[in-house]
Amino acid sequence: MQHNGRNHIVAADAIEFVPADYFRPLSLAEIFPRTASLEVDLGCGDGAYLSALAQQSPDRNFLGIERLFGRVRSACHKILHADLTNARIVRVEIAYAVSHLCPARSVEVFHLMFPDPWPKRRHSRHRVFTEEFLAAIHRALTVGGRLRIATDQTDYFREIERLAARSPRFVMTDDHASPVVASTFEVRFRQGEIEIHRLSLRKVSDVT
Ligand SMILES: C[S@@+](CC[C@H](N)C(=O)[O-])C[C@H]1O[C@@H](n2cnc3c(N)ncnc32)[C@H](O)[C@@H]1O
Repeated sequence: MQHNGRNHIVAADAIEFVPADYFRPLSLAEIFPRTASLEVDLGCGDGAYLSALAQQSPDRNFLGIERLFGRVRSACHKILHADLTNARIVRVEIAYAVSHLCPARSVEVFHLMFPDPWPKRRHSRHRVFTEEFLAAIHRALTVGGRLRIATDQTDYFREIERLAARSPRFVMTDDHASPVVASTFEVRFRQGEIEIHRLSLRKVSDVT
């Protein structure tokens, strides 16, 4: 791939995967050159975390989900510059991607790093983590698969814990307690000495 001028833009665009049909689950064989375990970064932002994970684990596939055009573009550029063939981005809404685009039992790890907090009570309905979201995550995960969450928002975190504790389909684990890779927002919060809450949920049952 070319790394300069117009060719670079064309090549970076090719990192974004645009589904031909948004009403069918994604064909992973069409997205990645190799069949491998799949990790999905929900709200991948500028792609720093996704591309670091993909570099660290070349034997796994990584899909970033992001709705903002500019961030999708940054993420695609990072993936291109790192010459990664195991990472792609889809520009789509998180809940839709999890519910309708991820094939059932296809994802080994979902990452939800610093989801938009919507701290005002009247805006909290915009938060992505809901009971329906958790049910959709369950459908898309392999048995034993994980959802890793990090947030700086204490009340959002308590709500996530409350919803997770009510679900018999998951157990809470601490396998995400000290992540090796930091996302852009994580770096920002660490620099500001802001407390970060983390949780990992493991799918224990395939019963829906
Ligand atoms: C606070 S930023 C965190 C970015 C990145 N995960 C990190 O930790 O650096 C949240 C990101 O999620 C994206 N996002 C929020 N809600 C979304 C949704 N419903 N669908 C797709 N992307 C979403 C935002 O555009 C933004 O890039």
